[in-house]
Amino acid sequence: MAITLGAIAKKNIERPMEPGVDYIPASGKVLFEQDLLYGIEAVLDGWLTGGRFNTEFETKLAGMLGSKRVLTVNSGSSANLLAFATLTSSKLGERALKPGDEVITVASGFPTTVNPILQFHCVPVFIDVTVPGYNANVAILEEAVSSKTKAIMLAHTLGNPFNLDAVMDVAKKHNLWVIEDNCDALGAEFNGKKTGTVGDLGTSSFYPAHHITMGEGGAVMINNPKLIRIAESMRDWGRDCWCKTGHDNTCKNRFGGQYGNLPFGYDHKYVYSEKGFNFKITDIQAAIGLSQMERMESFAEKRRHNHEYLTNLVKNELGDLVITDEAHPKAIPSWFGCTFTLNEDFPKNRHALLQYLEERKIGSRLLFAGNILKQPGYLDMPHRIAGSLENTD
Ligand SMILES: Cc1ncc(COP(=O)(O)O)c(C=O)c1O
Repeated sequence: MAITLGAIAKKNIERPMEPGVDYIPASGKVLFEQDLLYGIEAVLDGWLTGGRFNTEFETKLAGMLGSKRVLTVNSGSSANLLAFATLTSSKLGERALKPGDEVITVASGFPTTVNPILQFHCVPVFIDVTVPGYNANVAILEEAVSSKTKAIMLAHTLGNPFNLDAVMDVAKKHNLWVIEDNCDALGAEFNGKKTGTVGDLGTSSFYPAHHITMGEGGAVMINNPKLIRIAESMRDWGRDCWCKTGHDNTCKNRFGGQYGNLPFGYDHKYVYSEKGFNFKITDIQAAIGLSQMERMESFAEKRRHNHEYLTNLVKNELGDLVITDEAHPKAIPSWFGCTFTLNEDFPKNRHALLQYLEERKIGSRLLFAGNILKQPGYLDMPHRIAGSLENTD
């Protein structure tokens, strides 16, 4: 049976590409037979919701990244939302994010890095990015801080780490929270540390285009025990109870506590100390992710190799007509893409170039939402701009 399933899995994932005939997508998943067989094993366990595979996935990823706790969630967007929501908990007292508080970010990125700020009625403060790093211009970060600023939420753009030293310095000086959106940068490092583990909270995405996949999925990385407890609760409906799915009375005091204004002894399993979500994943997703994780380092290495190859090719062919992306000297990127900015004397405009590539079956992507301030759904968003957004545009 296993051989037959393995053969089916192999056939479905090993589709040879025919040069000039098949479309070359800008991104895609790299699956192995084992990934799918792990998924099948999880189905056959019959447990389905988060179980042994999820526990192993969270523990292993935490170890590989050097994070105290990794919490799996159902997408990178949910990871960003959970990370942000965690900082709104009243358990954080004065430091809790409240409506009207400002959060510094950039406008040229993925929308769900900015959305949680808006969804919790905080105000995004946009600073410009630098070219050719496409990350926040840290030189103007401090100027953007006002008396209302409570947090910094930035992505490591396309796997290229932003200057974490500079960001953490400003955050410490002004007592700000830092959320690292690490969705595009799994395996990257800055100054010897894995990105996503340096700020107060970091996030990951396991959508197929990302470094490892489980179909849909994400994770939040946290070191601070208080934030861990809040995030765990918020991921799991806001419950106060920390029993694993399918287990009861881990606290050994299920019917003996006093919570809020509830009657004494109210079942701890149904006590809610946060206004939470349900962002949990299934064990099937976790099993596929666990198998993929074995290749996390080699995938990142391959991405670095491909990035170098493509960059050199474009540099050699086009010279100064395009600007190729660059990493900070203290960074080891885990590339999610290869970014090119066309110089003014490039013979085609961007629109024409994208069509030219598309006609030749070569996929490409813009830098996500471009300047999010110009997107139809964001024209009326409350915000502040610190300095100019010249490079963002
Ligand atoms: C920087 C960044 N953050 C968040 C996300 C959202 O991840 P997901 O698609 O898993 O929701 C993405 C998606 O590509 C992303 O690039």
